[in-house]
Amino acid sequence: MSAEIDPVKLMKQEVGKAAAERVLSGTIVGLGTGSTTAYAIEHLGNRLQSGELKDIKGIPTSFQAEVLAKKYGIPLTTLDATDHIDIAIDGADEVDPQKNLVKGGGAAHTREKIVDSLAEQFIVVVDSTKLVETLGSSFLLPVEVIPMALSPAMRAIENLGGKPELRMGVKKAGPVITDQGNMVIDVKFDSIANPAELEKTLNNIPGVLENGLFVGVANVVLVGEVKDGQPLIREF
Ligand code: 5RP
Repeated sequence: MSAEIDPVKLMKQEVGKAAAERVLSGTIVGLGTGSTTAYAIEHLGNRLQSGELKDIKGIPTSFQAEVLAKKYGIPLTTLDATDHIDIAIDGADEVDPQKNLVKGGGAAHTREKIVDSLAEQFIVVVDSTKLVETLGSSFLLPVEVIPMALSPAMRAIENLGGKPELRMGVKKAGPVITDQGNMVIDVKFDSIANPAELEKTLNNIPGVLENGLFVGVANVVLVGEVKDGQPLIREF
């Protein structure tokens, strides 16, 4: 029986590697979260091990990224120890034609926004299923909330026209707890006509730490596609 290659996995692998190829020696690298970025972190480790890449330091956006960086031998640093980030590589759940994003599928969007926004160059790595005309059309918008503010924050979101639901754990009873010890509300908006305005409005609700709208943060979007069984990378 021949093993079928999952096309989405193939797209993620190739686009992750393509982004890791853009990292130069001697740079500080923001390490994103998710299954696509995991391939980028692995490839960075391979490049370090082969000696092709030297002297990089990673700043992880999550516990997951930290664990992977350690596994693949990438030295880490912190935002206290460095005053800049040269390049960040991170995934996304939706990308619109203006390169605005919805992130937070891994509940890591708060740290991701800190690291990705600080990077001189932020490269988004996605497979082609993530491209949308309007944000909010295929993915619920994640909002990280401090636990004591959960109920009032949900009511405030409903007043804005959103339908909030508390994100529940998988293989864990109860809600997802973020790396900061908070909870995530996933919100369905009928349409997100003005992402910049909604990003600010949501962050203005008391108890909301951060939401998954990334407006004007991405510099480059690399899209992995499969055509005639062959992976190819497109940039926009
Ligand atoms: C985590 C994220 C991820 O980057 C996003 O969910 C994409 O993940 P994947 O590459 O696994 O599809 O925002 O908070």
